[in-house]
Amino acid sequence: MPSHRPVLCEETVTLLTGCADVALGAKSGAVEGVYVDATFGRGGHTRRLLEVLGRDSRVIGIDRDPVAVAAGQALAASEPRLVVVHGRFSELGAVLAGLGIEFVQGVMMDLGVSSPQLDEAERGFSFRFDGPLDMRMDTSAGPTAAEWIDAASEQEIARVLREYGEERHARRIAAAIVAARPIRTTRELVEVVRAAQPRGTPGKHDATRAFQAIRMAVNDELAEITGGLAAAFAHLLPGGRLAVISFHSLEDRLVKQFFRTCSTPPALPRRLPVRGDAGRAEARIVSAGVTASAAEIADNPRARSARLRVLERLRLSEQAA
Ligand SMILES: C[S@@+](CC[C@H](N)C(=O)[O-])C[C@H]1O[C@@H](n2cnc3c(N)ncnc32)[C@H](O)[C@@H]1O
Repeated sequence: MPSHRPVLCEETVTLLTGCADVALGAKSGAVEGVYVDATFGRGGHTRRLLEVLGRDSRVIGIDRDPVAVAAGQALAASEPRLVVVHGRFSELGAVLAGLGIEFVQGVMMDLGVSSPQLDEAERGFSFRFDGPLDMRMDTSAGPTAAEWIDAASEQEIARVLREYGEERHARRIAAAIVAARPIRTTRELVEVVRAAQPRGTPGKHDATRAFQAIRMAVNDELAEITGGLAAAFAHLLPGGRLAVISFHSLEDRLVKQFFRTCSTPPALPRRLPVRGDAGRAEARIVSAGVTASAAEIADNPRARSARLRVLERLRLSEQAA
């Protein structure tokens, strides 16, 4: 089975658990608690987390990709502290409720696609391999990229290419895509994108931006991040932490803004008495952006654009308290 190399793994587990011993190579039992890996993938981060958690701890793995869930359930068969559930991280509250859990000590999210998703031609994520134009993380639901292209207006395709792919030639490429419909394979899409780019465009043969943009639209990725961050924070105990790794400036901007909002004290009317904690921020920023070391990037080029941000909950909101 193709594997995925976890990015910023030691940094994530250290900062998620708040346990300095992890950095010192702690093997087991350093920390107890209930943790969520909201993007299980092939469980790279979960495996490291399980190494440092004690016997009474639990890890809830979530992934929207049925193949990742099957890999996780195979691991869970021999690891009683792990349960892996199929779902979207924006549904994290419902997943926890289904397991009878209200609050957790930590949630980690490692955004984007996994290496097995990218490397398997039949998933249709990569312009490097010919395959069906699918791009769904969850192959059990929703339109494929081919169906999304069939249904979207030219304006919508141009908006997606411009906003999610930062594609300078968005309008030209959108018009070419609409003229070429139906597009059924990754190779067909690569050819349409290449042909639509003006002669002499730097990186002319690079369909990366268009593929990334369409993938983000098909999987509604930015709305998922917004929903996932809110759901994760709502279920954190005071002292609990949220660790998020992003790979793209649009993803990172959402994480940064969410963390900033949570860590800003509420604006209260002046001169009125403030009860209890009401004037304090609900969270503090533990880390505003850890990036991979040169050694990790040399070893795993995917780590190049990774950025880890970590938030700690300080108190429950008025409604939850
Ligand atoms: C970068 S990989 C995670 C890799 C994992 N940390 C590991 O070490 O193996 C991202 C994973 O998150 C999943 N994913 C992305 N968006 C999701 C969402 N909204 N809800 C649940 N899973 C999601 C993808 O299917 C993919 O398996």
